[in-house]
Amino acid sequence: MKVLVIGSGGREHAIIKKLKENRTIDKIICAPGNGGIQQDAQCFNVEAIDLVNMVELAKCEKVDFCVVTPDDPLAMGMVDILEMEGIPCFGPNANAAIIESSKVFAKNLMQKYHIPTAKYAVFNQADQAKEYIRKQKTYPVVLKADGLALGKGVLIVDNEESAMQAIDDMMINESFGDAGKQIVIEEYMTGPEVSVLAFSDGKTIVPMISSMDHKRANDNDEGLNTGGMGTIAPSPYYTKEIADTCMQTIYLPTIQAMNQEGRKFKGCLYFGLMLTPTGPKVVEYNCRFGDPETQVVLALLKTDLFTIMQAVHDETLDQLQIEWSNDSAACVILASGGYPKAYKKGYEIHGLNPQGQLDGATIYHAGTSYQDGKYLTNGGRVLGVSTVAPTLTDALKLSYLKIQEIQFENMHYRTDIGRKVVDA
Ligand code: AMP
Ligand code: GLY
Repeated sequence: MKVLVIGSGGREHAIIKKLKENRTIDKIICAPGNGGIQQDAQCFNVEAIDLVNMVELAKCEKVDFCVVTPDDPLAMGMVDILEMEGIPCFGPNANAAIIESSKVFAKNLMQKYHIPTAKYAVFNQADQAKEYIRKQKTYPVVLKADGLALGKGVLIVDNEESAMQAIDDMMINESFGDAGKQIVIEEYMTGPEVSVLAFSDGKTIVPMISSMDHKRANDNDEGLNTGGMGTIAPSPYYTKEIADTCMQTIYLPTIQAMNQEGRKFKGCLYFGLMLTPTGPKVVEYNCRFGDPETQVVLALLKTDLFTIMQAVHDETLDQLQIEWSNDSAACVILASGGYPKAYKKGYEIHGLNPQGQLDGATIYHAGTSYQDGKYLTNGGRVLGVSTVAPTLTDALKLSYLKIQEIQFENMHYRTDIGRKVVDA
């Protein structure tokens, strides 16, 4: 078997490392990949959103199975096109990927099928959005761009002035481009946030072990929202009782709702949940594995990943027993100083062995390149230092210990990943 993984982040590196455990796969290729992925898979220089050349690559390389991970190619119909060429894929079709690519679609789906989420209203006229906020007079309030905005399309505002400014920025100044032409205004929720990724073949849904991301750039949840600065798994807030409630009120109803709408969801469905005082509610859906959630979740998966992906494709997920380790995992992201705003690239990364790894941890490469035997920084999130241990405290200690061995110019990381949970 030859497998193509599409994407270039730490998430794709984690998926590839896991796929390497499967004996039926002879070769893994990746496009575009990165400096670290190059050590585990042959990389091809085709961008993830370049549908035409990606299909050409898959055909030329006689790929037997394709794993499509990033949101953009999924929303653009990469799976649809590959399947038309007869190449089986893991990942949803475009008509199901809309659950992430349109927040308005997701909110309307939840309302129609009574899936718990924040109360909301949808606007495509700035003056109407402003009038609604002035009347409501409840702060904080949450404003969301409808479309994909690299995880930055959500603004939480505390007063009328900031709300008016945010509406102008999104709808008139188009700070998120077309993504902000339509916006969702929603009720502010409180409670611990939990990420639950789930395998779905459209009939059966199997939640993975829970995890918790840290979205803000700096310690104490300060600074700008990022793609994610670190993760832990499992989340101690996500009890068996909460998991059962979520299955009945959120996971199964979502899969059934998508089927009712003629949008069968096959792949990994990501539930961003908030455990509010009135029960678990959906903050967002993603139509893919989370990054850096994947780096801790797959680290605890005992069942063979490729077997699961094939079962999702074949719609035989009900026949698999998926098993998880009882250990805990932690992943701390090393980022380029300045991220998520402007940052410089091309700095040499010191401390990694020739394979781009370190003894005692798994280093998932995100924004790196490999040139003349050296690893260089090549993105905002550069590396994920991931460890597994019998307790979360031990995993976190080990990740932070290992970070001391890595160095690059302007390296930035949060020093408090998992701290709230461990101290609680
Ligand atoms: P999203 O991209 O929808 O996940 O939103 C990014 C982050 O904004 C979430 O992880 C939450 O921390 C926060 N957020 C989004 N919606 C709400 C809400 N309704 N109430 C409180 N916080 C929210
Ligand atoms: N870590 C959040 C996401 O992947 O969207």
